[in-house]
Amino acid sequence: MTTTNQSWDPDAYARNARFVSDLGAPVVELLAPQAGERILDLGCGDGALTLKLANMGCDVVGVDSSAPQIEAARRLGLDARVADGERLAFDAEFDAVFSNAAIHWMKPPDDVIDGVWRALRPSGRFVGEFGGHGCVETIKRALIEALGRRGIDGDALNPWYFPTVEDYSARLARRGFAVRYIALIPRPTPLPTEINGWLETFAQSFMAPLATSARPAFIDEVRETLRPKLCDAGGQWFADYVRIRFAADKPHH
Ligand code: BEZ
Repeated sequence: MTTTNQSWDPDAYARNARFVSDLGAPVVELLAPQAGERILDLGCGDGALTLKLANMGCDVVGVDSSAPQIEAARRLGLDARVADGERLAFDAEFDAVFSNAAIHWMKPPDDVIDGVWRALRPSGRFVGEFGGHGCVETIKRALIEALGRRGIDGDALNPWYFPTVEDYSARLARRGFAVRYIALIPRPTPLPTEINGWLETFAQSFMAPLATSARPAFIDEVRETLRPKLCDAGGQWFADYVRIRFAADKPHH
C-alpha cells in the first residue's frame, strides 16, 4: 500500500486492527477460491487472509508496499513480496486477484485496475473490498477540524480513496471488466481499543505536519470530539466504516 507518511508496524497492527482481516470472510466467500487456483492477494498486509487462501489449497502470492508487513507474512511461510499496487508487474498469470481493506490506500485507482487487468488470465476475476463512499467520514471530519484549529489544511493530507458504486463500476467497465456484483455496505465496526489505537494505526498521514511531541495531545483532542458520536454508554468505540465490495470478470478473449 503506497501512502506517503503512513507506515505499518505489524505488532501495532495486530493489536489495533486484527478485526480488519477477521471481517474478511464475506469477501473471501465472494471470491469462492478453488483449490489449485493461482491467486494474487493485493495489499496482503501481514498475510492473515493470504494464509487462509493458502490453507484452502490455493497457490497464493501476496504483495504489499510495506516491508515490515511482508516480513510478517513471510514468517507465516507465504510467498509474499514487496510491491506497489499502482505498479503491478505481473502478466496474465493469475486466476483471480483478491484484495481486502487495501485499495483505498492506492492512488490513482486506474493504475491499480490496469495492473490487475494485466495480472489476470483471460476469464480471471477481480474480487475485493475496501473503504467506500462515506467511510470513516466522522473520524475524517474530526481530524480535519482539529487540524483546521491549528491552521493546517487537513483535506490536503487525506490519503484515502473511498469511491461510490457508480465511480468504481465505471472505472472497472472502462478497463473492460464485466462487473458481476458491486455494493456499498455500511458497517459500523467495534474497535478493540479506544479510538486512539485506530488513529495511531491509520491516521498517520493527517499527523505528518505535527511534531511527534504534539501528537498525543492532538489524538486526545480528536478522541474527545468523537466520544459523543462513536463511543456508546458502555465505553465501546466504533469506527463508522462503509465498505465497497465487488466482483468483476475479465472476458474470455
Ligand atoms: C481499513 O483498513 O479498512 C481502513 C483504514 C483506514 C480508513 C478506513 C478503512
